[in-house]
Amino acid sequence: MTSGSSRKRIGVLISGRGSNLVALHEAAGGENCPYEIVLVVSNRPEAPGLTWAKEQGIAALALDHKLFRSREEFDDQIDRVMKASKVDIIACAGFMRLMTSGLIERWHNRMINIHPALLPLFKGLDTHARALKAGVKVAGCSVHAIRPEMDEGPILGQAVVRVLPNDTPGSLAARVLKAEHKLYPEVLRLFASDQIKIKGDRVSCIDGATEAEDGDVMYSPALGSH
Ligand code: GRF
Repeated sequence: MTSGSSRKRIGVLISGRGSNLVALHEAAGGENCPYEIVLVVSNRPEAPGLTWAKEQGIAALALDHKLFRSREEFDDQIDRVMKASKVDIIACAGFMRLMTSGLIERWHNRMINIHPALLPLFKGLDTHARALKAGVKVAGCSVHAIRPEMDEGPILGQAVVRVLPNDTPGSLAARVLKAEHKLYPEVLRLFASDQIKIKGDRVSCIDGATEAEDGDVMYSPALGSH
């Protein structure tokens, strides 16, 4: 499971900056990582993350959603390119496009996402501003399997970040993003090696069931020693 062709093949969907893509890719280069990124697709041709992927020599493709007649046709094309690259798991990383239930069902429990909030709270956009407005004392991020409702689905892992008294949406987003860069590769590592499993809507984690702190951030599952 840990070397060569037995690694799980990951397709990453992005729309912009791609800092989570970078974190996933860096972790993939680590020793014994059970996954490799084989394709990056952006619905925005100008996405910096797409340029970065090309520079790394990763197969990278722009699929401009505006050139498709319908959401279904766009999603069918995503499905086709992922299958053509023999992708096992699709990881959304800042992919700002709602997907059809048809695509989501075809990739049931094989398509995951990171959201910058402690789900099920603060789904959707402007999460940090809404969290601060609500006066929460902790914020964070969640990796979850994708279901047809936006930001819904079994939660595979979360990181909890303290809210500071003078936080702005920007300062909070920056601290949460740092936690995202640690959480997402770790959850994908566990998921790709079947250490995180989804049964129905329940999630079990064989190895990393306990939560642990890393600096000021609490991760569950705990970060591995990789
Ligand atoms: C991240 O905060 C992610 O959680 C959210 O969109 C942002 C994408 O950032 N879904 P990046 O493109 O990975 O830098």
